[in-house]
Amino acid sequence: MPVLTVIGAQWGDEGKGKIVHYLSQGADWVVRYQGGDNAGHTVVIGGESFALHLVPSGILFSRPRNAIGNGVVVNPSALQGEVRMLEGRGIRVRGRLFVSLRAHVILPYHIALDRVREGGCDAIGTTLKGIGPCYEDKVARRGVRVADFLEPETFRELMCAAFSAHSAELGRLSVARLKRETLAAYPGLRRFLEPFCADTGWLLAQALSTKRRVLMESAQGAMLDLDHGTYPFVTSSNPISGGACVGAGLPPTAIDAVLGVVKAYTTRVGLGPFPTEMPERLAGRIREKGREYGATTGRPRRIGWLDLPQLRSAIRVSGIGRLALTKLDTLSGTDPIRACTAYRWKGRLLYDFPASRRAQREARPVYRDMPGFSGDLSSCRSFADLPGAARRYVRWLESELRCPVIIVSVGASHEQTFRRSDGSLWG
Ligand code: IMP
Repeated sequence: MPVLTVIGAQWGDEGKGKIVHYLSQGADWVVRYQGGDNAGHTVVIGGESFALHLVPSGILFSRPRNAIGNGVVVNPSALQGEVRMLEGRGIRVRGRLFVSLRAHVILPYHIALDRVREGGCDAIGTTLKGIGPCYEDKVARRGVRVADFLEPETFRELMCAAFSAHSAELGRLSVARLKRETLAAYPGLRRFLEPFCADTGWLLAQALSTKRRVLMESAQGAMLDLDHGTYPFVTSSNPISGGACVGAGLPPTAIDAVLGVVKAYTTRVGLGPFPTEMPERLAGRIREKGREYGATTGRPRRIGWLDLPQLRSAIRVSGIGRLALTKLDTLSGTDPIRACTAYRWKGRLLYDFPASRRAQREARPVYRDMPGFSGDLSSCRSFADLPGAARRYVRWLESELRCPVIIVSVGASHEQTFRRSDGSLWG
């Protein structure tokens, strides 16, 4: 059963969209299994840039079918906007995109709740897309699933119950306005969504029984995982590979291989611990060179050095067997290149990412400096084309992490990606 899961091994924005798109040439299905339109996957094809938020990156190739699994939270209005954008640019979506009947629906009140909470002192810097409040309703067993959204009576009942549950936080005037807005948009959104809806778990089981290749596309990254990330500064789902089974309806035995996408340095958006964050003077240069601004919110990303304890944790938790290294070109001109090999906390050395909030805040990175490289890497088309110092950096990383780097990316477009081995990627 060839299932390859691609996950972000840092705090998101590692370039997963580009790598998934690169791999989806050989896939029959591409599946999103968690998150929602908080994700921003940028894919550049022939100089044209596509920013995808909900639709799997496989939609940009003609072959794969694409599924939005039950673990995703779907904002129908955002999905409609994305489908219109893709169709307007000549991409065929209908008949190739399937939305799980079990996925939960983000409604305008979820976005309003996200705003209210982010306005208070417990803000964590969310994308304000209503992701957390929607997952909260799911866990509280009062959420609206796609199947419920399609049934007008059920939808109305569930929506009224949810509004009563949240009325104190939203305020009476807000509730009345949100109810009106939601009901006014409902018929059109229901009509739009219905043709895409399916039992995606069943479709995937059929595909696997006939040996089709399935690519699982994670959103966000390992350190934003609700259980294994920098809690509470995390998203509300499980981007780690284990999330793929729950979020797509596949058994754990179906996953053959996990590929981790790692940026040659580290970024994060929003608040929260970031032990290897760089001083702004250097961060600003890398941010501009790497265009490190959120694809969803436009926020400037925080920039840090590569963090091996963090990556070791991500590799362990997700069973990552191979890595794709992105944005190596952005590091060109930075000398020396630093990487954190351990943290020092309370007189001890830590080689794994600590669980305690205090340790995450207070641990000091132990750095190793390596010679930098210069020149324009964006025209390199093989490992041998890279400057010697860049090749040494990649080899050093592989030996420290005990994980081979099998794909290297040196630019935004599809052509600026190369493999280091010819073996199958599918397990
Ligand atoms: P939420 O997912 O909007 O609730 O935001 C929770 C945290 O995850 C915040 O720190 C966001 O900045 C971060 N986050 C959510 N989606 C992404 C993403 O696609 N890339 C990077 N960070 C993200």
